[in-house]
Amino acid sequence: MARTILITGASNGLGAALAEHYAAPEVHLALIGRDSTRLAQISASCSNLGAKVTSASLSVTDQKALKQWLDEFDQQYPIDLAIANAGVTSMLTAQGSGEELTAIEQVLDTNLYGVVYTLHPLIERMRSRKQGQLAMISSLAAWRGMPITPSYCASKAAIKAWGEALRGWLAPEGIKVNVVCPGFVKTELSDQFPGTRPTMISAKHAATLIAKGLERNQAVIAFPFPLTWGMWFVSVLPFPLASYFLGLFGYNRPRSPRKPK
Ligand SMILES: NC(=O)c1ccc[n+]([C@@H]2O[C@H](COP(=O)([O-])OP(=O)(O)OC[C@H]3O[C@@H](n4cnc5c(N)ncnc54)[C@H](OP(=O)(O)O)[C@@H]3O)[C@@H](O)[C@H]2O)c1
Repeated sequence: MARTILITGASNGLGAALAEHYAAPEVHLALIGRDSTRLAQISASCSNLGAKVTSASLSVTDQKALKQWLDEFDQQYPIDLAIANAGVTSMLTAQGSGEELTAIEQVLDTNLYGVVYTLHPLIERMRSRKQGQLAMISSLAAWRGMPITPSYCASKAAIKAWGEALRGWLAPEGIKVNVVCPGFVKTELSDQFPGTRPTMISAKHAATLIAKGLERNQAVIAFPFPLTWGMWFVSVLPFPLASYFLGLFGYNRPRSPRKPK
């Protein structure tokens, strides 16, 4: 069956792995990212796998341009599955300074409003078709605010709550909504985390787990299993005890940033 799949942040990391996972004959991929060179490389690799590819070099923070592009694309090729994946992070510095206001704004604009700007234009269009699937990439960081990355955790918690609410609202209308909460996935984004990254998996493996969860229409697709339990446990512990455990992994106090490999 032909499928049209939208993925934002498809030019790198998890988004690129998702694009390559879904790339196949009978699949039309709509790939969005800002870096046109990287986007062209991923588009070419997906075309080689047999998919039809439409790509757009756009920022998910540009609400007007994104809506116009989505409206025009969806009018011509109704989107079956939209994955709002684009995301950025920011951190306290090892020198002890907090996040700059501009960094906080960039994280919330991309991870929260960017997701809303991506999915909101599609809600009414899918409602009128009485079908469709909306997925948003949150994080296990949504389950407990971690001191070294405050705005990132806030953005992911907001998206998790928004997605859970949309799922309840839209299910009776035939629209599936899924919140994805990955643990550590090996990408340029996670290379910025200064703490340890227990149970880290590859982007390719993460894409497979996400696709399985979406196929089953799981409300919250959280992985990997041990870290999901760990973060759940931390979220229900008394605050000082939870902080103690986060500290063991380096997520309470900034350390020197990891050197790129
Ligand atoms: N890696 C992890 O451990 C991990 C864990 C939990 C959740 N996540 C989430 O997974 C998602 C993907 O992250 P990743 O790890 O794959 O990071 P990544 O390798 O840095 O990729 C991020 C992607 O987002 C795109 N992007 C960033 N800002 C954008 C904007 N304003 N407009 C359009 N595209 C934008 C980037 O492309 P351009 O630079 O070309 O725009 C890139 O394709 C994020 O939402 C992240 O929070 C990651």
